[in-house]
Amino acid sequence: MRRAVAVGTGVGHYPVPLVTRVFSGIQPSGALHLGNLLGAVRNWVVDQHEADSFFCVVDLHALTTPQDPAALRAATVGLAQLLMACGLDPEVCTLFVQSQVAAHTELAWLMECTVSFGELRRMTQFKDKSDRSDFVSAALFTYPALMAADILLYDTDRVPVGDDQRQHLELTRDVAIRFNSRYGDTFVVPEAVIPKAGARVMDLQSPTNKMSKSLDSPQGTIGVLDDLEQIDKKIKRAVTDTDGEVRFDPSNKPGVSNLLSILAACTGRTPEQTAEGYSQYGPLKSDTAAAVVEVLTPIQQRYRELAGDPAETARLLALGADKAAAVAGPVLQRARAAIGLLPRA
Ligand code: TYM
Repeated sequence: MRRAVAVGTGVGHYPVPLVTRVFSGIQPSGALHLGNLLGAVRNWVVDQHEADSFFCVVDLHALTTPQDPAALRAATVGLAQLLMACGLDPEVCTLFVQSQVAAHTELAWLMECTVSFGELRRMTQFKDKSDRSDFVSAALFTYPALMAADILLYDTDRVPVGDDQRQHLELTRDVAIRFNSRYGDTFVVPEAVIPKAGARVMDLQSPTNKMSKSLDSPQGTIGVLDDLEQIDKKIKRAVTDTDGEVRFDPSNKPGVSNLLSILAACTGRTPEQTAEGYSQYGPLKSDTAAAVVEVLTPIQQRYRELAGDPAETARLLALGADKAAAVAGPVLQRARAAIGLLPRA
């Protein structure tokens, strides 16, 4: 296993990168919103320069709810372009589409055989999503097994995600530890990395719900590609409260705390530090709107350039899939051998 070899205790025939490995994923369902950007994608842009980083558009995860095929294809390419517009550089990191690396589905089966029904039943995201859907696929239930496969295939050390993925990451760790103890050291046990500010961006109109692609709340959600004037208006109309005090207190002041978190994430401070500069809601809203617009303006410009060249995007994604498969393949073989599957003669 990569980490064991890296610290000099293992014997192995695997390539041995000594740097930290980062992996994360994002679904191509719904438009990328400010929560995705501040909770995850912005941190990936930094990670790619500090670690051997793999970022994946998880189209197979999107299939857990019914999708229109043409729309899914367009969303997959569009999200890859938007990730590049946000700053992911395919020359620096490995950016790829999940379904183009077959090892993900194969390892997912081994993960389904290692995770228990009871563990999957406890996943709060399954409960939330299944409560809201007429059709609940079996894959929506086993979704965390595929997610564990995504992560474990890359000998991942760190998984930068928003707060809502915490439980899935805990499960991935448990599954990796169980597999290792049943079949011998096979997987690196990964850690979640959750940012201090922006890990849970809330809906601007219902600040006790997280901002989400799937909830129908156009006034409460800021799409990364939304019109900038509309964004300014949405933030200025955000729900606050009546006591008038600017203080970071998510349980008692969810609306104000959400604005402070957004402003803090955009300006690289903590929400508490950010609160010190304000005594009224008006200036807090104006500054938050200005900071968000400042972050989004260059992303939107770059996206318009990239969107004009889908063939180049497809080429870059194919290169990414090749790089990903070269790492995932040996890890999959290691897992197959450990669990007792017969090697091909
Ligand atoms: P997804 O596509 O829902 O979200 C992508 C990333 O955005 C974060 N995020 C948020 N952060 C802050 N505030 C919010 N309101 C908010 N909403 C979303 C998510 O935490 C996530 O980091 N299951 C994953 C995709 C996945 C994955 C993986 C992630 C599949 N395989 C392997 C990491 C590693 C998901 O549905 O993310």
